Amino acid sequence: MAYAFLKTCGMHPERIDLDASLDAFLDEMQKGLDGQPSSLAMIPAYVAPTDSIESGRKVIVIDAGGTNLRTALIHFNGKKLVTDQFQKTKMPGTQGEIDKDTFYNCFADLVLPMVEEADEIGFCFSYPAEILPDGDGRVISFTKEVKAHGVEGTLLGQELRAALAKKGVTKQIGVVVLNDTVTTLLTAQASYPTRKCGSYVGFILGTGSNTCYVEQNAHIGKLPALNEGAQIINCETGGFNRMPLGRADEILDKKSTRPGAALLEKMISGAYFGELVFHTLSLAMEAGILSELKIDRSLNTKAVNDFMIIPEDTGNVLGAALAEKSAKERELAYWIINGLLERAARLTAVNMAAAILKTGAGSNPMQPVSIGIDGTSYAGRYFYRERIEYYLYDMLRVKRGIYYDLITVENASLIGAAVAALGK
Ligand code: BGC
Repeated sequence: MAYAFLKTCGMHPERIDLDASLDAFLDEMQKGLDGQPSSLAMIPAYVAPTDSIESGRKVIVIDAGGTNLRTALIHFNGKKLVTDQFQKTKMPGTQGEIDKDTFYNCFADLVLPMVEEADEIGFCFSYPAEILPDGDGRVISFTKEVKAHGVEGTLLGQELRAALAKKGVTKQIGVVVLNDTVTTLLTAQASYPTRKCGSYVGFILGTGSNTCYVEQNAHIGKLPALNEGAQIINCETGGFNRMPLGRADEILDKKSTRPGAALLEKMISGAYFGELVFHTLSLAMEAGILSELKIDRSLNTKAVNDFMIIPEDTGNVLGAALAEKSAKERELAYWIINGLLERAARLTAVNMAAAILKTGAGSNPMQPVSIGIDGTSYAGRYFYRERIEYYLYDMLRVKRGIYYDLITVENASLIGAAVAALGK
């Protein structure tokens, strides 16, 4: 019954054809690289993987994530990471709309106490930003429902320096802006310095979702002046839009801050999955197969996950609402959510496989493609990792003879941002 219902609203997992979606993904990636219209921004990061990390020099790191803003003063003692003055607060713009001055002041206040101790800042910015060859980053847009008025279009490094100058800082501090997928890739590489890999990918599935990989400069059609070497490309894969949307996807999209944008992210990432479950269960209520539940649009991914892990647990909104219903209804809700998770796993696997294939490496099992993975949803979501790995194994190893290493990393934003700042 759950599957038949999902099918009537176009939300069933098999609607995602793995091979066709993979082809569409690869095609969309190349279009983005060539500067043609594409739902994938394919942003050159002007950073390449590195195998040397300077020991002893201190750098400031900023990690502007989907939920939190973290800062620290970091150095490496040999290969060991040493973190000082660690601070954590809410990401500005996640608790209601703010303006540009408030946004940059928040960063400047956190950096101020460390500014005399370092000459470079590694700024991990988990939102789309165009990276300039000098390392600064221009904010393209906000995702994950963050609202910061007047910040889009501004240069992060330049504005941060200006905000620091207003607070009396005269020093010209260097700023290297990089996406969190790039820090993930760099951290996975730094974690196994002696491992010979064919190429590298960085993948995030947390509040938001995104992927980066290493591309040959000669293949970046929109940067014709570069033809030697390679660099990391931030694909902004959350924007992918060449998959079929179901009715709940359309409802969620219409109600979001940016309708039409970040469509893949809205189907798989933590910022949206709870709400997607809510809209789908609401459709089941409308169809008369589920009775009225006490849940609303604020249903979050964690509550859904807690319900899936222990369906009898009443410590979360969904479990509590379903505890009042019959076992049959609880089971129906379980299978509907399971279908949405299966669909998300199929899409996630296609996304990861496309990036691995796009590196052009991995045919030699002794030099696999390293895929660094960070993100709460990937590791913690109900029976998720197993499904993704199953699809990846089939799509890549079995059908295409491509070998890869999945490397889960922690604290990637801080480590990777420090590695990049030390490379300047
Ligand atoms: C952002 C990406 C980011 C990803 C994971 C997305 O919403 O657009 O830049 O890498 O979330 O944090």
